Amino acid sequence: MAMVRCLQELETPAALVDVDRMRANLEEAGAYCRRWGIGYRPHAKSHKSSELALEQLKVGAMGVTVATPLEAEVMARVTDDILVAYPPVGPGRLRRLLSLPESVRLTVALDSAEALRALAREARSRGREVGVLVEVDVGLHRVGVQNDDELVGLAREAATTPGVRYQGIMLYPGHIRTPVPEQTGGLRVLSETLQSTLEMLALEGLAPEVVSGGSTPTFSRSHEVAGITEVRPGTGIFNDRTTALLEACTWTDCAYSVLSTVVSTAVPGRAVVDAGSKALAKEEVRASFAEPGIAAGFGCVLDRPELRVTALSEEHGIIDLRESSWQPRPGEQVRIVPNHVCVSVNLYERLWQVRGEEVLGWWEVEARRG
Ligand SMILES: Cc1ncc(COP(=O)(O)O)c(C=O)c1O
Repeated sequence: MAMVRCLQELETPAALVDVDRMRANLEEAGAYCRRWGIGYRPHAKSHKSSELALEQLKVGAMGVTVATPLEAEVMARVTDDILVAYPPVGPGRLRRLLSLPESVRLTVALDSAEALRALAREARSRGREVGVLVEVDVGLHRVGVQNDDELVGLAREAATTPGVRYQGIMLYPGHIRTPVPEQTGGLRVLSETLQSTLEMLALEGLAPEVVSGGSTPTFSRSHEVAGITEVRPGTGIFNDRTTALLEACTWTDCAYSVLSTVVSTAVPGRAVVDAGSKALAKEEVRASFAEPGIAAGFGCVLDRPELRVTALSEEHGIIDLRESSWQPRPGEQVRIVPNHVCVSVNLYERLWQVRGEEVLGWWEVEARRG
């Protein structure tokens, strides 16, 4: 590929990362965790790149979090401390996880005896020992044990089964998706529930060494959840429209955008760009806001959040210009911030590093689509 030096030379749609914004996001995350004495274990699902994981390790990450075997394989190139925050169910998944290099200290979160027993069997057959966190459902109702009896049962089995080592618990506060200033009540309930869970585990002789929590929307308030030993923010490396709408970052902290070209302005009140659902991912904002309609649409123009992508087809993104003085012509480039960055990154082979209009290089999305 010919060397690309500026945005005008890129074929669109293309995934861009503003390197200065991204570095500032990472430094802030590292500094926050140091300030509160909380381990920083970022989730690699958001970037899927070993080089970007390395950037996170440089600002103090203790290791990384992954969801899939491919992410684990890619991240093992740069760290020996990997948490798989996804149930290790299915023989293919288990085989691949247990085939990671011997140097990797692997920890896996799970919520069932089936998962635990199969993991322990596979670990024993390889002569390995795998750390286990029992996942607790704290409100998202997606995965996680549902009560103290289930938690104690699984934790005790993990503590006494050869091939695995009980290390603690994992929770994901993905149910708290209101703007940051409105999270006080939800975080208090979470903190109190966690306190009683930790006291109960201590009484049972199962005090956890690790209590893994955190998400990007709640990141800056993680210290309010007493007992958390580490956090797993994913999105925060880049941020996205959802993060900005939730006031978990400012619009100028959005480091990721999809470079697109206006391909048509034929229909009055609209600019059509070449970033459709195959470039942005068609995901609605998953969050609750007092103001109705604030989150409608599938993305917005970088640094101009009032300009929204109101409809998407595969190769077409429709920007509503009815209330705007901006009247682009076909050929103009536009940078779009998607609603959810992780699913957009997963659509690209590379993330272009940019500063202003200048293209500095790229990172490969090594674990894309896996
Ligand atoms: C289990 C788990 N941990 C951490 C994260 C990271 O969340 P966020 O991208 O909000 O930081 C996710 C994201 O989906 C997750 O599923």
